[in-house]
Amino acid sequence: MDRSRTTKASSAGWDALAGDFDAEIFDPTGTDRGGAFERALRSVGRVELAVDLGCGTGRLIPRLMRRAKRVVALDFAPELLRVARMRVGDDPRVELRCADLSCPLRTPRGAELATCSNVLLAPDAALRQAMLRNCRRVLAPRGQLLLIVPALESALWVNDRLVAWNRRAGLTGRRAFRGGIRTDEASARDLLAGIVDQGGVRTKHFLREELEEAVRGVGLEPGALERIEYPWDAYFDAPPKWLGASGPWDWLVRAVRPD
Ligand SMILES: C[S@@+](CC[C@H](N)C(=O)[O-])C[C@H]1O[C@@H](n2cnc3c(N)ncnc32)[C@H](O)[C@@H]1O
Repeated sequence: MDRSRTTKASSAGWDALAGDFDAEIFDPTGTDRGGAFERALRSVGRVELAVDLGCGTGRLIPRLMRRAKRVVALDFAPELLRVARMRVGDDPRVELRCADLSCPLRTPRGAELATCSNVLLAPDAALRQAMLRNCRRVLAPRGQLLLIVPALESALWVNDRLVAWNRRAGLTGRRAFRGGIRTDEASARDLLAGIVDQGGVRTKHFLREELEEAVRGVGLEPGALERIEYPWDAYFDAPPKWLGASGPWDWLVRAVRPD
């Protein structure tokens, strides 16, 4: 199962992935089969300033450049920023900045558009809230945040399909849960907090109502909430047809900074 999102606690952990980031780290906006993210971007329209928080290797930057006169992209991992720089070249409209999003950002300010894709992954709620506050800080009044996070409902659905697959393969009892969400006491406690192990990394997943509440909690108005849908092969090798048409997804919430 390939579900790598990883929640490395330090920038060094992320930097270590720089060489293989695009292959190793799931790309929500690049895998979005229903086009929800692109539609959301289009509906924001053209802007002066767009900010990408937790930009990684800058996979989103080219799409933001098509919408914005200026893009500021932030990450705390210098090696990932180096790869991002190679991606965007010398374009003076793009500023790449090394910044820890768990600390209050003083700049940039006044963005009409901010994006934050698969960055609020840490199990620590205070850390996630600090990052979300920064998403609000960078926005101009009426500015919009496009926030993508893993969906807990999806993690449970993927697990359900995996267990069904195991059963079809003849596994019974505890063996039917092989490869799925772990069922030991600590993992069950984690699951109640939306924390699911992904490739050995405890990763926060959100219920839709929880996500809306988190966004409200930092003073943003949650608007449309949509699924960014992925094909089954984003998770499973050689997925059988009977898994069904409804595949895994992440949540995309559009949130507005009030006046
Ligand atoms: C899963 S990657 C997503 C990268 C990018 N948004 C994308 O969709 O391709 C998570 C990113 O968040 C960054 N990140 C995690 N914690 C951070 C922090 N405290 N400050 C700044 N960046 C952070 C990591 O360095 C990594 O680039």
